[in-house]
Amino acid sequence: MKNLLIVHHSKTGNTRQLIDSVCQGVAGTKTSALSLRHLSAREAGPDDLLWAHGLIIGTPENFGYMAGALKDFWDRTFYEVEGRLSPLPYALVVSAGNDGTGAVRSITRIANGYPLVPVQEPIICRGAPTPEHLQSCHDLGAAMAAGIEMGIF
Ligand SMILES: Cc1cc2nc3c(=O)[nH]c(=O)nc-3n(C[C@H](O)[C@H](O)[C@H](O)COP(=O)(O)O)c2cc1C
Repeated sequence: MKNLLIVHHSKTGNTRQLIDSVCQGVAGTKTSALSLRHLSAREAGPDDLLWAHGLIIGTPENFGYMAGALKDFWDRTFYEVEGRLSPLPYALVVSAGNDGTGAVRSITRIANGYPLVPVQEPIICRGAPTPEHLQSCHDLGAAMAAGIEMGIF
C-alpha cells in the first residue's frame, strides 16, 4: 500500500481549482493500492508527512512568498519529522497573479531541508486557471499517482 498526501491553501479559490484537477488526475489513475489524503495546510500535520510516500503542495503566491498558512505547516512539522522522513518525492503547484517565482524559491529552500525531492518542475499558473493549467495539474496528479504506486519516484 502506498500513500499520497496533498496539502494546499487557497484564499479565493484559484489554487483550490488547480488542486481539484490534480485530485481528478489521481482518481483517474490510482488503484486500490494507493491511498489519497487531501488536507488544507491548516489541517495537515507531522503525522500526515510521516504517513506519505509522496506529497503534492498547492499554494498561492502572496507578497512574493508562499501563503502564510503553508509556511505555518512547515513551521509546525519540521522538528517533528526531522530525522524520521525518508526523502519524500514531491511536486508543487503555485497560483499567482503575475509571478510565482518567489513562492517556488521559498518552498524549494525549505523542501531541501526535510528532505523533499522534486519529481518535476513546479507548475506556476498565472491568473485565473485556464484549461491548459487545469490539464497540467490533471497530468501531474496522474503521473504522481502512477509513479508513487509503481515505486518509480
Ligand atoms: C495578499 C495577496 C498578496 C499577493 N501577492 C502576490 C505576489 O506577490 N505575486 C503574484 O504573482 N500574485 C500575488 N497575489 C495574487 C494571488 O497569488 C493570486 O490571486 C492567486 O491566484 C490567489 O490564489 P487563491 O485563489 O488560491 O487564493 C497576491 C494576492 C493576495 C491576496
